[in-house]
Amino acid sequence: MNQDNERVVDYLQENEEEKVINLSLRPHSVSDFIGQKNVVSALEIAVQAAKKREEPLEHVLLSGPPGLGKTSLAYCIAHEMGSKLTSTSGPAIERAGDLVGILTNLEKGDILFIDEIHRLSKIVEEFLYPAMENFQIDFVIDKGPYAKSVKFNLKPFTLIGATTRKGLLSAPLRGRFGLFYDFDFYATADLSLIVERSAKLLDVVIDKESALEIAGRSRGSPRLSNRLLKRVRDYAQVKDRGAIHLEITKEALLHSRIDENGLDDLDRKYLRTLIELYQGGPVGIETIAASLGEDKGTLEDVVEPYLLNNGFIIRTPRGRSITETAQKSLNIS
Ligand SMILES: Nc1ncnc2c1ncn2[C@@H]1O[C@H](COP(=O)(O)OP(=O)(O)O)[C@@H](O)[C@H]1O
Ligand SMILES: [Mg+2]
Repeated sequence: MNQDNERVVDYLQENEEEKVINLSLRPHSVSDFIGQKNVVSALEIAVQAAKKREEPLEHVLLSGPPGLGKTSLAYCIAHEMGSKLTSTSGPAIERAGDLVGILTNLEKGDILFIDEIHRLSKIVEEFLYPAMENFQIDFVIDKGPYAKSVKFNLKPFTLIGATTRKGLLSAPLRGRFGLFYDFDFYATADLSLIVERSAKLLDVVIDKESALEIAGRSRGSPRLSNRLLKRVRDYAQVKDRGAIHLEITKEALLHSRIDENGLDDLDRKYLRTLIELYQGGPVGIETIAASLGEDKGTLEDVVEPYLLNNGFIIRTPRGRSITETAQKSLNIS
């Protein structure tokens, strides 16, 4: 994606090793789920109410930047509801027909998880509307003059959609969800707890200062916390006796190329481009993307949310601008 051969904060992609480890680090129940207090408390009430009524949960839309725990929470919800979860994703469903088998196999109260739901095609999306609304699907069998449309009743299920781009969802799709939860970047204190929890699961000893140091460089993201923790663990095992303390943490993190502000190479390049080529902006995202040789979507999904959230850039109708805070506090060069 960019010329740096590896980007630590490239949390859109998970490599195979990471997939396996992350599975083991994933919280399994809502009580394991650290942080996102607003989301969790609202969700707990919705879950208890649904259970009391002995009804499936309403359809849920989870949105927020990558790596903040949307997929994890979907599994936690299934656990709380005592439901089976079937997982798929927007780009994986090419034709409406791909959904027929999945939907007709759902039992009452089962959960269908669709990741990256903003990437569903229009046709598939429209096929989903009656399924979400009154648990029915219409599908066409046969072709040509013999074609006929058949209605099929589904068992009441819960759709959980996850998206990094809520704004790209069409209004009719959004309108068919009953519960909406937006994820915020995590506070450092919460990330620190996540690091301690993960360390325990990975069987590594870590002190509080080191957990806090890792948390502070995690850009508000548990996925990145776990990634940095694994880096520090490896470093400590090779260079030291394995236990993680502050000195070894700082040394290891120096190699991760993430600065004290949680900015990595691509962030710094983004900000530098804004300052040096465009006098701090405003400048359109397409122009920035072209200058960086990066995909616009990646910048919007991965780079900008963190910069916006930290007040380093602002979005105006005429494009992106650097803020005074960024000019002052950042040592970008
Ligand atoms: N609240 C949390 N508590 C503990 N670990 C978490 C939490 N949220 C996320 N994680 C960790 O971060 C990783 C990424 O989370 P994930 O659910 O895949 O994010 P998303 O689906 O939003 O991209 C998970 O594998 C898990 O280890
Ligand atoms: Mg996910």
